[in-house]
Amino acid sequence: MEDHKPLKTLIEIMKDSELKFKERRAAFEEFAPILVAHAKPEEEVLYGAMKKQEALREKAFEGDVEHGLADQLVEEIKRIEDEDLCSASIKVLAELVEHHIEEEEEELLPAFKKNSEAQEREKLGNLFLQLKVTYLAAGDDNVIPDPKTEIIKNQ
Ligand SMILES: [Fe+2]
Ligand SMILES: [Fe+2]
Repeated sequence: MEDHKPLKTLIEIMKDSELKFKERRAAFEEFAPILVAHAKPEEEVLYGAMKKQEALREKAFEGDVEHGLADQLVEEIKRIEDEDLCSASIKVLAELVEHHIEEEEEELLPAFKKNSEAQEREKLGNLFLQLKVTYLAAGDDNVIPDPKTEIIKNQ
């Protein structure tokens, strides 16, 4: 939840049509790598753990799908040249991720908390942070499976 905070701040800028396009586009540039560095460890650590539990499995897969949609939109926005289309796409991305984060904070994370022990959550939290550092170092365009796989294997 702590990791959602910087994303939420940038989402507010990205969806504010009153602001200048340049400012919203700059917020998007900042948002894209932070989103990857949050979403990838989340998929691997949190969703991975949720998939092992029957009651949480479906929600984890829904999360994967939403992450996939956000990823596609991020890649599209990087290529769009038309300012109006780019502006609209940044807004839709912001709303999509905002809704996704809301669902995680209100449903998914509380459900996981109910179905897990504090000790397991602590372990997963540490693993999440380790992976996050790896993704931040790699930048948003690089998927580097080797180091993260090593980190997961060593747990
Ligand atoms: Fe997520
Ligand atoms: Fe999240």
